[in-house]
Amino acid sequence: MTRLGRDAAALLLRRLRSWYADHRRSLPWRETSDPYAIWVSEILLQQTRVATVIERYREFLERFPTVCALAEATEAEVLTAWSGLGYYRRARMLHQAAREVCARHGGVVPGSAAELRALPGIGRYTAAAIASIAFGEAVAAVDGNVERVVLRLTGAGLTGAGPGTAVAASEEGRRVQADADRLLDHAAPGEWNQAMMELGATVCLPRGPRCEVCPWVEVCRTRGEHPVRKRAAMRAEALSFEWVVRQSSKREPVERVWLVQRDERQSVMPSMWELPAADGADGEPVLGLRHAIMQVNYQVTIYAVEAATARRSRQRGGRWVTAEEAGRMPLTGLTRKVMQRMGWLPVGGARRAKPDGVSR
Ligand code: ADE
Repeated sequence: MTRLGRDAAALLLRRLRSWYADHRRSLPWRETSDPYAIWVSEILLQQTRVATVIERYREFLERFPTVCALAEATEAEVLTAWSGLGYYRRARMLHQAAREVCARHGGVVPGSAAELRALPGIGRYTAAAIASIAFGEAVAAVDGNVERVVLRLTGAGLTGAGPGTAVAASEEGRRVQADADRLLDHAAPGEWNQAMMELGATVCLPRGPRCEVCPWVEVCRTRGEHPVRKRAAMRAEALSFEWVVRQSSKREPVERVWLVQRDERQSVMPSMWELPAADGADGEPVLGLRHAIMQVNYQVTIYAVEAATARRSRQRGGRWVTAEEAGRMPLTGLTRKVMQRMGWLPVGGARRAKPDGVSR
C-alpha cells in the first residue's frame, strides 16, 4: 500500500470484518447467490435509495425470475415494472444485457468482471460488485461511498484546494481503485466490498461522519475532515398537465383518462406514457404536487379539463385508458404519482404490462 503500511492493512482487515459481522443490515440481495438477482440489485441500487430498492427488488424478481424471463419480456413490460424508479435507461440496458446473456451465453451470467463489463449498462463498479459478490472474484468495487471511505482513510487527494475539488476523476480515481484493491479481503471479496459500502453508507457519511463508532478511527488519516464533493444545486421549475376524463356512459360504464405517449426519440423517458401537457388556458386546478427528477424540483399543477374542450384532438399518439389499463402501462413516475393521488391507481400496487406490450 502506498499510503498505508502493511500492518495497518492487516488491522483494517480484522476491524472491518468484525464490525461488518455485527452491523451488516439484513438486505434481501444478501440472502442469495444467484448472479442474476445480485445484478438486478446492483442496477436498482445505482440511483435509488436502499429502502425503495428493498420494496421493488422482490417484485421485479417475481415478475422476471430469470435472466431469460427478462430477455423474453417486451420493453414495455420491463418499463412498467420499473415505473416510478426513474433513470429508465438502467432498465433498458438491463433488458438489452439480459437479451445478450440469453442469446449468447445460454442464459448463464458471465462469471468475471471483464466479461460482465462487456454487457450494456455494466461499468467498472457494477462488474466488480457482481463478480465479487456472486463469483468471489478478488476485485474491489468502488462506488461513491467506497471512494469517500478510501480517501478519508488514506488522506489522499487532500490538495488544500477546498471542498468539492479533492477528487480529480481520472488520476485520483485510479489511485483510489488501487488502494481499494490493496485493502481487499481476498478470502471473502464480496463480503468485503459490501462491508466497505456499508461503512460508507452508515458511518463514514458525506456530511457528519460518525467517527465515534467507526472501526477504523485510530488508523484513519483524516477522521472525516476530508472534503466531500458538493451536491449540485437543485433548480425549481413549474409544470402543468391536463386531467381529461371521459365519463362513463350506459354504453360504456367505465371512466377513461386521456394519456399520451412520449416520442421514442426523446432522450428522457422515451416511449413512456404521461398526461398531456397543459397550456394553462383551460380547466380548473385540481391537484398540486412536488416531484423531483435529478437536479430539478418541479412544482406540478394538474388541471381538470372537459373532454369536449381538451387539446387532445391536437395531440397525436394519445389514447383513452381505464385505470386498470393504466396500471399495466409504462407510465412516467410523475404520471403514476398523479394517478395515485387522483385515486386511479393503488399506492404501491402491482405493475404488470400486457404480454404484447402497449398498443394504441
Ligand atoms: N449499494 C450497492 N450495492 C450494495 C449492496 N450490495 N449492499 C448495500 N448497498 C449497496
